[in-house]
Amino acid sequence: MTNNNMYFVANWKMFGNLRSIKSTNNVLKLTKSKKFQKLRIIYCPPYTLLDALIKKTKNSKISVGAQNCHYKSDYGAYTGFVNAKMIKNIGANYIILGHSEARIEGDDDKKINFKIKSALDAKLKVIFCVGESLKNKNSNKTSQVIKKQINVGLKKINNYKNIIVAYEPVWSIGTGILPSKIELEKNINFIRKLLNKKKNGKKVIILYGGSVNSYNIKNLTKISQIKGFIVGGASLKAKNFIDIIKKSII
Ligand code: PGA
Repeated sequence: MTNNNMYFVANWKMFGNLRSIKSTNNVLKLTKSKKFQKLRIIYCPPYTLLDALIKKTKNSKISVGAQNCHYKSDYGAYTGFVNAKMIKNIGANYIILGHSEARIEGDDDKKINFKIKSALDAKLKVIFCVGESLKNKNSNKTSQVIKKQINVGLKKINNYKNIIVAYEPVWSIGTGILPSKIELEKNINFIRKLLNKKKNGKKVIILYGGSVNSYNIKNLTKISQIKGFIVGGASLKAKNFIDIIKKSII
C-alpha cells in the first residue's frame, strides 16, 4: 500500500506577503523528485498572493486555490468581494469553502451551498470543510451538526466529481489538540456514510485538518480513511510543510 497520491493543502489564512512566495522554492524542488510526483499539493494563500503564486508554480505539480469567494456567481456591486469566476479567471483551480473561520464571519450552511454551486459552475475544485465546535462536541451534537453541514451545504448538487470534503473539528484548529484515533475514525466514517448515500458521492475523498504538524502526521496517516490534510500554521514555513509531507509518505 502506498499513499504517495495524498493531498496536502497549505491554508495560509490571513498570513503572507510577496516575500513568502519564496518559501515554495523547496516544495517545488520536492515535487520534482520521483517519490513525491504523485502528491497533490495545493497552496491556498490570501487573494493578494494568488497571482504571484500561480505564476511561480506554473508548469509545476503544485496547484493554487483561494480561501473563499462571494456567494453570487455574477459580477455586481459588492464592494470588497471576489466571485468564483474571478478566481478561476486568474488561473486558480481550487477553493476552500465552509472553513470554520469563514463560518464565524457569517458563512452559514445555506450561503456555503450557494458558494459551492458558484465555484463548481466556475469549474473550480471545491475543498468543502465541515466540523463541530467544542460546544457541539460537549453536548453530543457532532453527528447532528455535521449532517446538517453536509446535507445543506451540498443541497441540489448532483455532480461530486470536483468536490473534496475536509473534516476539521473547530476545537482542533490552531489549538494543538487532536481528536483521538477512535473519534476521528468515527466522525470520518459518519461523513463517508453521508456521502455514500448521495448519487456519485462514493468517490468523494475526505481530508483531515486541525493542528496537523510533523509530530502527529505519522499517526494521522495510519487512518486509512484520510486521503490528505489541510495544514494551516505548519504550512507557513516550508521546512515544516516539507517535514509533514515527507513523514506522511510510506
Ligand atoms: P491549523 O489550521 O493547521 O493551524 O490548525 C488548519 C485549518 O484551519 O485549516
